[in-house]
Amino acid sequence: MHAWLCESLDGVDGLKWRELPTPEPRAGEVRVAIRAASLNFPDSLTIVGKYQIKPELPFVPGSEFAGRVDAVGDGVTHLKVGDTVAGTAASGGFGTHACIDARRVLPLPAGFDMADAAAFAFTYGTSHHALLDRGELKAGETVLVLGAAGGVGTAAVQIAKAAGARVIAAASSDAKCSFLKDLGADATINYASTPLRDALKSLTEGKGPDIVYDPVGGDLAEQAFRSIAWRGRFLVVGFAAGGSIPALPLNLPLLKGASIVGVFWGDFARREPKAFAAGMKQLLQWYAEGKVKPAIDCKLPMAELRAAYARMATRQVQGKVVLVND
Ligand SMILES: NC(=O)c1ccc[n+]([C@@H]2O[C@H](COP(=O)([O-])OP(=O)(O)OC[C@H]3O[C@@H](n4cnc5c(N)ncnc54)[C@H](OP(=O)(O)O)[C@@H]3O)[C@@H](O)[C@H]2O)c1
Repeated sequence: MHAWLCESLDGVDGLKWRELPTPEPRAGEVRVAIRAASLNFPDSLTIVGKYQIKPELPFVPGSEFAGRVDAVGDGVTHLKVGDTVAGTAASGGFGTHACIDARRVLPLPAGFDMADAAAFAFTYGTSHHALLDRGELKAGETVLVLGAAGGVGTAAVQIAKAAGARVIAAASSDAKCSFLKDLGADATINYASTPLRDALKSLTEGKGPDIVYDPVGGDLAEQAFRSIAWRGRFLVVGFAAGGSIPALPLNLPLLKGASIVGVFWGDFARREPKAFAAGMKQLLQWYAEGKVKPAIDCKLPMAELRAAYARMATRQVQGKVVLVND
């Protein structure tokens, strides 16, 4: 097999394309011949040692992939060689083969597109858990999605629409706003050129959004919270803006009767497997009905992983970048 090996925590400079012994699955694992893998923001933190999960060096990065099971370890009864699957893991996806805990694998319906499969569970799982489970989104409510053109953002826009919400999608350029309109957003805000609070005021007749979905953090977090509606829910999803983690004065939730709600999809999947499975089942159903579909920014050969990382670092990605094996 071949894979990108992270040999030092120097970002893309620490990544080397290596030939490695093909691993045999241990008990409870399957080996997947990878057709496609997608880049998620945590993949850019892992290779500089800044993600909460820190694999031991050297490791193969890549937290999400799809392909065909080509070997099955002892004790695995629900998967067999030839099944098409998608998987999420702390590492392992940016190569031709990976062994993965069979419990972290999602069997796919026949004909599921491999690029879509590699760009599905992480982002749609996160946004479904965030909006419907943690945020208790109801039809007719208004959702503000920050960083809406990114991976979890595009999934949040589609899921909120599928759940009957009005969606205000916010991003940093007119091009991204136009992409988000095409994706189904009811309104957009370019927060690089328009003050967020003014735009929200006019788009919601002064009421504010019922839910703020925030994968960005930075200066936008407090601005968005100050605009939230009475009984609003502010979903803390991530901190893509970097810098210091935003802090909120606690009088703000008091004055709005609003909640700050944490979202941690990885632990949700581990701690609440039945609720996780129910969420994925609904998402697969919505995919089959055409209500959700990953927005694929581009497909690149696996060998061009460094270019994929560069696109994400420079905020060019609209949706998801997918790496494919021949
Ligand atoms: N809580 C959870 O369970 C969970 C699960 C998955 C991901 N996450 C987190 O969610 C966040 C987004 O992940 P993602 O995979 O959707 O990433 P992504 O595709 O790169 O999207 C992130 C968005 O953040 C915005 N952004 C603002 N400042 C940025 C900066 N300095 N650098 C890069 N992007 C910046 C960009 O939009 P604009 O250019 O339009 O501002 C970009 O589209 C990450 O922090 C990730 O760790 C959390």
